[in-house]
Amino acid sequence: MADILVFEGVTKRYDGAETAVMALEDVSFSARAGETVAVMGPSGCGKSTLLHLAGAIDRPTSGRVLIDSRPTEAMRDAELTRLRRRRIGFVFQFFHLLPTLTVEENIALPLLLAGGPADDRGARARELVERLGLSARARHRPHQLSGGEQQRVAIGRALAPRPAIILADEPTGNLDSATGRSILDLLAALPKSDGVTLLLATHDREAASRADRILHLKDGRLQPAD
Ligand SMILES: Nc1ncnc2c1ncn2[C@@H]1O[C@H](COP(=O)(O)OP(=O)(O)OP(=O)(O)O)[C@@H](O)[C@H]1O
Ligand SMILES: [Mg+2]
Repeated sequence: MADILVFEGVTKRYDGAETAVMALEDVSFSARAGETVAVMGPSGCGKSTLLHLAGAIDRPTSGRVLIDSRPTEAMRDAELTRLRRRRIGFVFQFFHLLPTLTVEENIALPLLLAGGPADDRGARARELVERLGLSARARHRPHQLSGGEQQRVAIGRALAPRPAIILADEPTGNLDSATGRSILDLLAALPKSDGVTLLLATHDREAASRADRILHLKDGRLQPAD
C-alpha cells in the first residue's frame, strides 16, 4: 500500500533574534495507510514540531514532506491549507474546541471550512456524534462537558472530513488515567475502522507500545530502532 506520509531528510530550524533552535535534524521515515506510529522522546525533542510538519501547519527548513503521496514543498499556502483541511485531522492535549459552538457544530466545523454542502455536513456530524456516544450532548457547549467528552468531540472533528492522517499530540496529557485509556482505545481503533494513518506523540510507554512502530526522538534526531 502507498505511503501516506513520507519525511525525507527533514530539518526544521527556528530562527530567533539571537539564537537558532534545531528542532528537527535530518528526519526520515514513512507511514502507510492504516498504520499507527508513536512518537516518543523527552520534552523539547521535537515531537510537536514533527506533527506540525506532518500536518502541513508548518514547512521544513530543508528536506521534503510528502502527504498523500504529494510533495508539499511546491504547494502554495492556499493549496497546503486545502490539503490540511481535507486530509488531516488534529487532536491536541487541550482539545481546542470553539467555546461558542455546540458539540455537533464543533464536529461539523472542518466540513464548513472545506465548503461541503450543508446537508452532508449535518449528516456526517450527527453520524459521528452518535458513534462517539455524544448523542445526549449534541447541543451542549464545550464548557458543559467533561475532559474525556471534550476529547471525543475533538476526535469527531478530526474524523469529520474523512482524513488520511490523524495527528494526536499528547491526547491524554490532560485526562485522568481511566479516561485517557478510553480515549487511547478510541484512537487506536481508527486505523482499522477508518483506514487512517495515526501519528501519536506521547510520553506514555504503554500507549506507544500499542503502535505498529515507535519513533524515538532525541534533540531533534531519530534514534535507531531498538
Ligand atoms: N515556534 C518556535 N520558535 C522557536 N523555537 C521553537 C518553536 N517551537 C518549538 N521550538 C523549540 O523547538 C524544540 C522542539 O520543540 P517541540 O515543541 O517540538 O518539542 P516537544 O517534543 O513537543 O516537547 P513537549 O514534550 O514539551 O511537548 C524545543 O527546543 C522548542 O523550544
Ligand atoms: Mg509537544
